[in-house]
Amino acid sequence: MKVTIDGQSIEVEPGTTILQAARMIGGEVVPPAMCYYSKLEGSGGKCRCCLVDVTKGSEADPRPMPKLVASCVTGCQDGMEIASKASPRVQEARKSVTEFLLINHPLDCPVCDQAGECDLQNLSFEHGKSETRFIETKRTFEPEDIGPNIQLHMNRCILCQRCVQVADQLTDKRVHGVMDRGDHANISTCISKAIDNEMSGNMIDVCPVGALTDKTFRFKSRVWFSKPYNAHRDCDKCCGKTTVWMFGNEIQRVTGRKDEYHEVDEFICNTCRFDKKEVNDWTIEGPRTFEKTSVINRNKYALHVPKVEIKTEDHILIGREEDRKKISMIDVPLENAENSKQ
Ligand code: SF4
Ligand code: FES
Repeated sequence: MKVTIDGQSIEVEPGTTILQAARMIGGEVVPPAMCYYSKLEGSGGKCRCCLVDVTKGSEADPRPMPKLVASCVTGCQDGMEIASKASPRVQEARKSVTEFLLINHPLDCPVCDQAGECDLQNLSFEHGKSETRFIETKRTFEPEDIGPNIQLHMNRCILCQRCVQVADQLTDKRVHGVMDRGDHANISTCISKAIDNEMSGNMIDVCPVGALTDKTFRFKSRVWFSKPYNAHRDCDKCCGKTTVWMFGNEIQRVTGRKDEYHEVDEFICNTCRFDKKEVNDWTIEGPRTFEKTSVINRNKYALHVPKVEIKTEDHILIGREEDRKKISMIDVPLENAENSKQ
């Protein structure tokens, strides 16, 4: 089937959603997603961040869809044409959804452990308005203790339900879920039971905001001060492949390895995540580089930059090469050249 998104066409298999097709194309056409998570079955359809405009339904029925649709739960049709970033209507809708998500979200980024890798922060950066029209009191919840490892901060929750799906998919007995309705809806455990399942820590990785954070890392450091390294260990409960976040020689936290959509490659167990914080516990493979744009996590992630050939006159190129040599000081002898390269 052929679909076209913002003028770029791609062939996809039947059953592919518009969001998946957009991710295959990549770049700016990819809609933001706050609740869809490719590794979680049945995720999506909750946050409405991924709205797109279907300007041509299909080859068989070319009528446009009257309303914007959630791209994560709408299947592609042969000949479908979609406007994503290119549509002012979509841009306006994303702004509205962002404003809606921020209505009850506290603006406590300066003290939130998720700051720097928060999907809502990134969404606001791209689609948010600089001022709020909300003058009512924000909805707040009483703090609830859900166990020794995970900190629940319900006021920050956007009810994407990814954490509920993690529990459904990876654990035998889910002990938490969405309680109540409408403005009172909240994530809670029945009778405040601790979530002590061995895979429960993955809820932290899938939470797009700071509603579920790692208690063993809480307030230790801002994430942009630590450096991510790929590491692995022999683990009989999970794949053992993780990212360890280091500050000097100290492992401050352990997370799953995340891709450019901030989704983990594989889920990891609580032992790897919470109990293995010694460098000796891990085989460190090297710095973690992956594509991820974010408000403040620059320098942590390697953006794929295609090589650009610029036609320039030879004498200018010679001058540039001279400059490059001087700036990188390759002729200056250094006492410890190996260390200086790091
Ligand atoms: S706690 Fe996080 S993952 Fe769970 S519903 Fe709220 S925002 Fe989503
Ligand atoms: S990502 Fe599609 S509705 Fe949330």
